[in-house]
Amino acid sequence: MADSNFATQVVAWQRQHGRNTLPWQNTQDPYRVWLSEIMLQQTQVVTVMGYFARFLERCPTVADLAAASSDEVMGLWSGLGYYSRARNLHRCAQLVVELHGGQFPRDAATLTTLPGIGRSTAAAIASLCFGERVAILDANVKRVVTRVLGFDADLASSANEKKLWDAATGLLPAAKHAVADMPRYTQGMMDLGATVCSPKKPSCLLCPVLSHCAAARAGDPERYPVRTRK
Ligand code: ADE
Repeated sequence: MADSNFATQVVAWQRQHGRNTLPWQNTQDPYRVWLSEIMLQQTQVVTVMGYFARFLERCPTVADLAAASSDEVMGLWSGLGYYSRARNLHRCAQLVVELHGGQFPRDAATLTTLPGIGRSTAAAIASLCFGERVAILDANVKRVVTRVLGFDADLASSANEKKLWDAATGLLPAAKHAVADMPRYTQGMMDLGATVCSPKKPSCLLCPVLSHCAAARAGDPERYPVRTRK
């Protein structure tokens, strides 16, 4: 019998219908994945493409970025906005060189000690590059998870936010499949949130986890996520 498990469905859907040809995919190089994740935090995929290519051309490795001048890094970032990202990026590259011998840490917990790398970005890098079994929870993925679970507690409360992290962890692929499935699961959750599970009028009929989704069952996906204030 086909496996109807939530994570299995996400992984199978990603393989067939997800995005698999973006410039920062099909690599396990944490430098590339980190750089793309920082750029994608507040910038659209189409815009990131050109910046990502120019950045890598000038700084092919984290050591090159660490050795670049601040002016050069700010110049490469110019136009992307949210300039604290660029300052943290440069500082992070220097710390990877100084404290970690030029190799990115391979686990999410250590990655979060670096500037500009929050819990979700750390989990993205560790799961996409190293198959660590850790949940991401960016804005798109929060929408998917709250809808699937019918999680309607107010995310303005940090206690509820913590519960959502635990709930997202509960949806991950089984530990025995983690190394094989985590990269595609993480990408699949991002892709679902960015395409099918849109804020308004989500395409539930195209959704691989429709049968798991409490919000779709109740007919009110647009109600999620619930947050009373920013
Ligand atoms: N947004 C954040 N991370 C992404 C990724 N890996 N692919 C596409 N969009 C993203």
